[in-house]
This record gives sequence, C-alpha cells and structure tokens, in this order.
Amino acid sequence: MKLRKLVSVVGAGNVGEHTASLLALRGLVDVRMFDLPKKDGDRLIEPVKGKALDIQQMLSALNIDGKVEGYTVSPEGEGYEALEGSDIVVITAGFPRRPGMSREDLLSKNISILWVISEKIKKHAQEAIVIVVTNPVDLMTYAVYRILGFEKNRVMGMAGVLDSARFKTFISKEVRVSPLDIHAYVVGGHGDEMVPLISISNVGGIPLKDMLPREKIQELIRRTQFGGGEIVDLMGTSAYHAPAASIVEMVEAIVTDNKRILPCSVYLDGEVAQYYEAQGLCAGVPVKLGNDGVEEVIKLPMTEEERHMWRRSVESLRKNLSTVEELLNARSSL
Ligand code: NAI
Ligand code: 2OP
Repeated sequence: MKLRKLVSVVGAGNVGEHTASLLALRGLVDVRMFDLPKKDGDRLIEPVKGKALDIQQMLSALNIDGKVEGYTVSPEGEGYEALEGSDIVVITAGFPRRPGMSREDLLSKNISILWVISEKIKKHAQEAIVIVVTNPVDLMTYAVYRILGFEKNRVMGMAGVLDSARFKTFISKEVRVSPLDIHAYVVGGHGDEMVPLISISNVGGIPLKDMLPREKIQELIRRTQFGGGEIVDLMGTSAYHAPAASIVEMVEAIVTDNKRILPCSVYLDGEVAQYYEAQGLCAGVPVKLGNDGVEEVIKLPMTEEERHMWRRSVESLRKNLSTVEELLNARSSL
C-alpha cells in the first residue's frame, strides 16, 4: 500500500525546482520532477535528474524522509510514464515573462506545451488533482481543464495565494504588523486587473479601511496588482520563491485535507458562476481545499466598487477566452 502521497512537478525551472525543494523539505510527500534535456556546448545534459539528486541529498543532510526523482522528457511527450500514481500534478512548464512582456503574450507558446503535458496526465495520471501555474494562469487553467476533461474540482490554478501573500506583505510593511495577523484576499484574474478585496481585509480584526487613508490603500492595491511586474523588472525574470511557497500551501491543504480556504483559479459554472457573473471561465475565487481538491467555492460578499473591479477583471479574461478556444480547436483538429 502506498503510504506517502506523490506529487509530480512538470517543468523544473525556477518555480518547479523551488516547489520540489520546498515540498521535499516539508517531508509530507514524495516528489517527481519532469523537464526537457538542455544543451551544454555539444552535449545534451539532464538538469532535472541533477536537481532531483541534489534535493534528495539535501534531505539526507537534514535527516528528512522522502523520495525525489527526476525524469527527462521530450517536447513531443516522451518520458512521462513516471506520472503514474501521482496524487497531484503541478504544471510549471513553459515560458516565464520577460521585461515588457504581458502574461497574455505567453498564451500561444504555453498552450502548445500544456497540450502535450495534459495529454500525458490524461494517459498516466487519470486520478490526479492538477494545479496549473504556467501563465497566463487563468487561461491556462481553463485550457488544461478543457483538454483533460476531469471534474472541475480536480483542476485549479495557482495565483490568488501568491497575490494575497504580496498584498499581505505590503500591508504588513505599512502598518508594521506581522503578516500572520493580517487577513486579506486577492481574487479575479492574475493580471493587472486583479481584485484585492479591501472590505474584508483586516489587521488583527480591525478593518484595513479604518487603519489607513484611502490613498495609501489605493497605493497598496496598485503595488499588488503590479507585484509580478515589479519582480520581473528587478530580476529580469519572474518570481519563484513566493510562487513556489504558494503552490506548497495548496498542495499541503489537499494532501492533509486541512480544509483551508485559499483563493484559487477554478472553473466557474452553475450557481456560483451566476453569483460571480462569470459563467464558463476560470478566475480566482476563495475555495475550500481538501482531499477532493476544490471542495467548495465560497461566495464572498463584495462592495459595489469591488464588484466593478471584479467585472473588469473577468471581462479582460473573457476577451482572451476566444483565442484560447481557437488555439484548442486548431490543436484538436491536427
Ligand atoms: P523557467 O523558464 O525557469 O522554467 C520553465 C521550465 O519549463 C524550464 O525548465 C523548461 O525547460 C520547462 N519546459 C519548457 N517546455 C517544456 C515541455 N514541453 N515539457 C516539459 N518542460 C518544459 O520559468 P519559471 O520561472 O519556472 O516559470 C514557469 C511558468 O510559471 C511561467 O509560465 C511563469 O510565467 C509561470 N509563473 C506563474 C506564476 C503564477 O502565479 N501563476 C508565478 C510565477 C511563474
Ligand atoms: C508573478 O506574478 C509572473 O505571474 C508571475 O510573479
């Protein structure tokens, strides 16, 4: 009988590698990493195997139990047999944003990559819960959900946990209180129009709007909305420490069945979609996470101003949804 859960991380670049490392350090799960070979001068090397071995040796150094393995795959989809038995598959494969590049610019390149990976998940990890990280994440989550055909509770995108962590960081610096005592959610699409919710944000139970002037709060909102870009401008590539930690929060909630409420990008339909006025797309909303993945979508109250921001965010996702559909249809007719 398998005692430990198995998490596969497809794409072992900056985010994937840090995710694998953090997951292994928590000691809760075994980890398998998948990535392409790389060119090193004239020869082909297999960095994913090296990274897995390095992490495995880190566990030995720290006396932490766990198995970490690396698998080299091809862009055409060879080498994915080891997805077999995965409880969770995290997809971080694809291109990150470069300075001046929008998340939407990444759309067509990353959709082709995710097509191949999703087909392999369908073949080898039929029972897995899938966490999509690749950008533009809400559209990619939608694409993966469509390609996989899994129940909607088993496909989710990571962004809201990261955006909320950024928001909490900025609030914490401003009010000089530990982020542990700050409660704040960011919902909507993972783009510049994401929605940091002020009406429910509080510091030790005191509403944020009673602690800071409106202009300061607006500044924090803007910094959060451009939080990804701020890091890209500074580092020349996108963030990976906080994204990896955010993925680990979601994985941990699922494997320990702790029923945390975390903002995740999920497919909205039925009554909740009506509530959120967002039928048939993936967007960030607070959900309850447990063994079954998304166990409940929470209907958060919003002020009129927040609703307005939410609608704008959903509208900007919807604008690109038809492009996603076209790319998916073109791909399925190949
Ligand atoms: P990276 O370039 O460091 O890593 C991407 C990895 O994917 C590379 O190692 C590459 O070899 C691999 N890859 C590319 N094509 C592949 C294929 N066909 N099969 C298997 N592996 C393949 O990029 P990084 O920084 O790790 O970011 C990964 C993705 O995650 C990007 O799309 C980035 O925009 C996104 N991201 C999303 C966040 C979110 O909040 N949702 C936060 C941070 C990054
Ligand atoms: C971030 O927000 C690029 O989506 C990535 O850091």
